[in-house]
Amino acid sequence: MRRLTAETRVHAAELILPVFVREGIRQPQPIPSMPGVVQHSLDSLRAAVSEAAEAGVGGVMLFGVPEVRDAVGSGATARDGILNVATRAVVAEVGDAVVVQTDLCLDEFTDHGHCGVLDDSGRVDNDATLERYRDMALAQAEAGSQLLGLSGMMDGQVAAVRDALDAGGFVDTAVLAYAAKYASAFYGPFRDAVDSQLRGDRRSYQQDPANGREGRREARLDLEEGADVLMVKPASSYLDVLAGIAALSDIPVWAYQVSGEYSMVEAAAAHGWIDRERAVLETLTSIRRAGADAVLTYWAVEAARWSR
Ligand code: PBG
Repeated sequence: MRRLTAETRVHAAELILPVFVREGIRQPQPIPSMPGVVQHSLDSLRAAVSEAAEAGVGGVMLFGVPEVRDAVGSGATARDGILNVATRAVVAEVGDAVVVQTDLCLDEFTDHGHCGVLDDSGRVDNDATLERYRDMALAQAEAGSQLLGLSGMMDGQVAAVRDALDAGGFVDTAVLAYAAKYASAFYGPFRDAVDSQLRGDRRSYQQDPANGREGRREARLDLEEGADVLMVKPASSYLDVLAGIAALSDIPVWAYQVSGEYSMVEAAAAHGWIDRERAVLETLTSIRRAGADAVLTYWAVEAARWSR
């Protein structure tokens, strides 16, 4: 009876697996602050995305970890940059079975670790960054990415990327707007995962955790600029924002269950303090219940199997 009357389900097709691929390694490297998650080599990445497709997940989101970084994040737009190389490999492997998505942001590729380029005073230069995002969009679309994940939180990034894609003939490449992305402590383990060079924080471009109305405004702007999907991030601490955006949006709304949300449950479960499987499913169910049509989660493959 409970199964029949449940209002919310967690289904494999609505789960998206984020994956990290690191340039220049032969063997996958464990990420200490994210037990069970690795930086992949190109070979182990191919195997991981095949496994994810086999489990029935709806998509994979690729993050690249380059060997060399510079001030403008050249590796992000280079045809042989690790993310673009990996995208080609993943599209060839599973491009017909899952939606192949790429992180469109400079932070993994810059030597200062910011999501954009800096001006002379060391501040992130919003409009100069948009030029880099346009080039990055073309490089990723050309590599075969089907959905570009705009996680940099620059103003006007959705319009700039949409315009570049259309002008370049990539009319079918879709845009996932991280509409409301908060400056969160819960990204901590991710910074290990991508060897982030960041000192300081991202509060000049990510949202203030105190502000829900501002998050909804960001979502409306991204809708007007031509986003195909809106996302809220992190998930669990922002369920109110998620519900608010789900209520105003007429396009899909997703949520990103971020690294810190993953690691907290894993750490507590490793101590035997909580029941791991129940806790994972409860978090995912809550995020779906609050209004997410799909969820990015490091548990995507495991949860997809449980849901069968
Ligand atoms: C930026 C980006 C971040 C995450 C996804 N994209 C890091 C940040 O904004 O500092 C975090 C994801 C996670 O914590 O799991 N490219």
